[in-house]
Amino acid sequence: MSDKATLEINGNKYDFPLVTGTENEVAIDIKTLRGVTGGVTTIDPGYKNTGSCESAITFLDGEKGILRYRGYSIEELAEKADFLEVAYLLIFGELPNTEELEKFHSDIKKHAVVDDDIKKILDAFPKSAHPMGVLASLTSALTAFNPTSVNVDSEEEMYNAIVRILGKFPILVAWTMRKKQGMPLDYGSSSLGYVENILQMMFKRPDEEYKQNPILVNALDKLLILHADHEQNCSTSTVRITGSSHAGLFVSLSAGISALWGPLHGGANQAVLEMLEDIKEDGGDTKKYMAKAKDKSDPFRLMGFGHRVYKNFDPRAKIIKVAAEEVLGDLGVEDPILDIAKGLSEEALKDPYFVDRKLYPNVDFYSGIIYRAMGIPVEMFTVMFALGRLPGWIAQWKEMRMRKEPIGRPRQLYVGETYRPFKDISER
Ligand code: SDX
Repeated sequence: MSDKATLEINGNKYDFPLVTGTENEVAIDIKTLRGVTGGVTTIDPGYKNTGSCESAITFLDGEKGILRYRGYSIEELAEKADFLEVAYLLIFGELPNTEELEKFHSDIKKHAVVDDDIKKILDAFPKSAHPMGVLASLTSALTAFNPTSVNVDSEEEMYNAIVRILGKFPILVAWTMRKKQGMPLDYGSSSLGYVENILQMMFKRPDEEYKQNPILVNALDKLLILHADHEQNCSTSTVRITGSSHAGLFVSLSAGISALWGPLHGGANQAVLEMLEDIKEDGGDTKKYMAKAKDKSDPFRLMGFGHRVYKNFDPRAKIIKVAAEEVLGDLGVEDPILDIAKGLSEEALKDPYFVDRKLYPNVDFYSGIIYRAMGIPVEMFTVMFALGRLPGWIAQWKEMRMRKEPIGRPRQLYVGETYRPFKDISER
């Protein structure tokens, strides 16, 4: 393999180094391109071919359907680790030992309260407000109550900011749901595990003891692990570019939540359930919706299908599909939506339109079926995605700042009007 790429422009040749990653991916380092060529840049809408950074956090191979966090396979992590272990792994680079994990959780618990004035902000929202908009606002509002920005050169300050947001974010998630349901805004209990505490804050009725259901705890723990990071996706890139201006961690996370909300990204898990409901209401006519998805004149897309990187089965979708069947079975829930989803998936995987475009079910296709079986409202599905993605966003933000990456500022190709003199209004 040559160690350089050569570009020829107007008879001039320019060499650019080839860089190879630890998984033998090869990239052309074009850091000097504009300088050496007198202003030539590249253009790549959606960055389909452009790497924004070097990263050591998550590796995925879209052709082979491989996903690893810090070298560990998603299959093993989903099976053998818990969410807090995976959060620690993503953020600090290694799986924690017992003492490290206990200290991590204990430090997180110390921050598992929010200023009571947050409730006043929450009260200002109408019940009809979408939980993602509420969550993005509350996350940004945390800055008002924790104003000191993170000195990333201080390990202690960085660590404190991390355990602070890991402690407070689940409260914002739970209270966002409770607000919509008109339920009181309570705390959980410091005697509970991280995921148990989240479930108690979300579901405890004021007049009853909340009884933990291990099926729900395991299902949520696994879903959060599967959503924890995914290299340079839209919302993570948003978190990184926001932080690259040295904006604070909380507001960078708030920007990521906003990006995740979109139905082409994290919002797809809600859109999938709504689509499956529509198909069910329409008599389960999956063929009609397959035809709509293939009809270029129809804006309808098969939500939960396709992926920018995976051109094979999303490994997370495989795991979630099995988990959905187990959870519904364990809960004794018969949900016709799951059968419609499986039918749609089987049809699409045989249909040339989807096969030729390598469109497979992604992480969002089955996740909502589990959330619904757990009693989570459909508008909260993307909030649950954000809860899972939080450690990945933190890890990526931390990596970007610790590596002292430059402020993100892409170039463009201008295709507008060339110079023209001002025209007085009387001449227009
Ligand atoms: C997530 O990036 C990540 O890692 C994201 C994520 C993460 O963990 O962070 O994995 C989470 O966002 C998963 C994706 C959730 N979104 C959806 O399920 C929405 C439906 N899917 C799409 O809209 C689409 O597949 C994207 C947005 C996911 C990917 O879009 P791309 O890579 O820009 O591909 P494209 O839009 O250029 O599509 C290529 C072709 C087009 O047809 P042609 O123009 O070649 O004829 O495939 C078609 C598209 O029309 N196509 C679909 C389709 N997805 C792509 N046609 C019907 N239904 C679909 N779902």
